[in-house]
Amino acid sequence: MGDRPSRSRPPDSVRGRIPLPGRPRWAWLLGTGLRRWRIRRILRSVVPHVASGSTILDVGSGPGYDAEELARLLPRGQVGRWVLLDPQPEMLAQARRNLARPPTPEGPWALIVGDAAALPLRDGSADVVLSLGVLCCMAEGSVPAAIAETTRALRPGGWLVFGIPPWRREGDIERWEQAGVGLVSRPRRGAALLQKRL
Ligand SMILES: C[S@@+](CC[C@H](N)C(=O)[O-])C[C@H]1O[C@@H](n2cnc3c(N)ncnc32)[C@H](O)[C@@H]1O
Repeated sequence: MGDRPSRSRPPDSVRGRIPLPGRPRWAWLLGTGLRRWRIRRILRSVVPHVASGSTILDVGSGPGYDAEELARLLPRGQVGRWVLLDPQPEMLAQARRNLARPPTPEGPWALIVGDAAALPLRDGSADVVLSLGVLCCMAEGSVPAAIAETTRALRPGGWLVFGIPPWRREGDIERWEQAGVGLVSRPRRGAALLQKRL
């Protein structure tokens, strides 16, 4: 199931004091029933846009609950490849365990230790990107690079599901707009569906 997470120093773009659910010990908070319900309601907005064979990238995947929920919403055989990327190896170790638990969501799954501000992916290689609760866990100075890198990795016409934690300013959506990813809808408060311009 993809690259084996190695223990290494997190990149500088990871915020010094990550908010609680962004830390491996507290990541279970992300998998509670209420949050999963909210995430499902957000993810439903992208389901009609996931074409057969799509590559779906979950940037800052943490323990992988968002991708897992989306996998369960999509028809079998719809996704060509899932890529879960996170700088914290322990998060990906949790994702590996979660995804192996029955009923196992359909893969294939690639788990990559990496940084949103320097994505190890080719230009336009992702059809859909999930970025939920991630920019808030990054050092502010690295957020523009993360937005630029995510935009680069997304194919023209590709879709972005973006989640903003309640304490974050809505200005983040304007930053995506400026990078060339336009707002399409607001499925829930604190969430946005965007599409990269052609
Ligand atoms: C609050 S958790 C959200 C996890 C997941 N997206 C979810 O909604 O369940 C934030 C995640 O962002 C990751 N993160 C922090 N800095 C990052 C960076 N520079 N690049 C990619 N991910 C990062 C953290 O490791 C953590 O797993």
